[in-house]
Amino acid sequence: MLNCFQQAQHDMLPDATHDETSRQEFAKSLKGFIQNALLPGLEPIFTKRVAPKFKREQGRDPMDRNDIRKGMVKNDYFQLYASTTRIAQELLWEASAMSAERELPRLIEKAKSLSASSEADLVLPDGFEPPKYVSAVDIHCMPGGYCTELTEDDIAAGLIYDRGVYLYAMGYAGPYNDDMGRSVCNYITRNYANFKPRRILDMGCTVGHSTVPYKEYYPDAEIWGIDVGGPVIRYAHARAKALGHNINFAQMNAEETTFDDGYFDLVVSHIMLHETSGKAMPKIFKECERLLAPGGLMIHADLPPFDLMDPFTQFILDNETWYNNEPFWGAMRELDQLALAQDAGFPSGDVKFDTAPMAVMEFAAAAAAGYTEDSANEVADRDFTAGEFAPGGGWEVLIAHKPVAKQEVA
Ligand SMILES: C[S@@+](CC[C@H](N)C(=O)[O-])C[C@H]1O[C@@H](n2cnc3c(N)ncnc32)[C@H](O)[C@@H]1O
Repeated sequence: MLNCFQQAQHDMLPDATHDETSRQEFAKSLKGFIQNALLPGLEPIFTKRVAPKFKREQGRDPMDRNDIRKGMVKNDYFQLYASTTRIAQELLWEASAMSAERELPRLIEKAKSLSASSEADLVLPDGFEPPKYVSAVDIHCMPGGYCTELTEDDIAAGLIYDRGVYLYAMGYAGPYNDDMGRSVCNYITRNYANFKPRRILDMGCTVGHSTVPYKEYYPDAEIWGIDVGGPVIRYAHARAKALGHNINFAQMNAEETTFDDGYFDLVVSHIMLHETSGKAMPKIFKECERLLAPGGLMIHADLPPFDLMDPFTQFILDNETWYNNEPFWGAMRELDQLALAQDAGFPSGDVKFDTAPMAVMEFAAAAAAGYTEDSANEVADRDFTAGEFAPGGGWEVLIAHKPVAKQEVA
């Protein structure tokens, strides 16, 4: 079994008191208990009790995730699972917010001095309006969401998110919460060995967890992280500097950025798309196509489409839509993303889904391989169950390539 990583310290993380740490660790352990003890009970409950009852009442077997849900919501065990999951989610933010709130004045000053010492740009345009799909709900129950600003130079959302994501992922996204970025970088270097991006854009970067690995893999590239949340962008800029990196960050909408046509060789996002909307996604794909230079790559790492999994797994994952303030979570998994990418101008032969193996799983498998072959296989075969994952220990990636020829003809 993969050991859970402790979060790595850096100068922008709030110092938690003993009591705050206990609450945070309790929230994380409660999530672990739900995953390991409560979640496995749902399938037997469904097959042995709920499905037969559904058949008696409806005269047919449950066919899809909606049927499964109709039966399961009336079941006491499912209600216990769903309500405990919601409580754990609220608790992890509350526990993170306690130390963030106490440390906010000190860390605002720290962020200002780190940002002032950075050689990279921090762009926060006056009067920026975030889209309603981000500002109208506290997505995944994070109090205030990504955009709320209550004080000058506010970074509170960044402080809460950095710690909260570690608790949410129970450490399995690595010590710097950067497994998605690291896994996509590994994927690119293995599958596109000669691809050397000169400029890289990370859309919906939040606090830059996934952005930083690109700087490590491509130190000479000009890198930009953009997000619609002002507080998270300020935090990202300072956090990157605290980790020793000069990375440009801007408050900007991925639907309509201010960069020139063809400015980037690589445009990526990590778990951003499912927090947008059905109207925004086509615009974002078109914007990616506009921003890419000939030969460039668009890579979105996000939720696997529903049609890649069985109805029961669909039902389990769709609980995020119903109980975790993720309004677009299920709808996004039903979209034909390959068609959207083609409509945006990427040729059909140049668009595909693939799986980027999780860097932390590879790390654990390699470590275990040092012991015995059996223990290595055990780690490599373990399904990952912490959060937004593709079945089998990888992140689902949508990849589109902008051909060189098309641009030359145009
Ligand atoms: C789950 S977070 C992404 C996490 C981050 N990419 C990472 O890997 O750690 C989703 C982010 O997407 C941002 N977002 C949503 N819609 C956006 C848009 N149209 N343009 C830019 N950012 C957007 C949200 O503000 C939020 O910070």
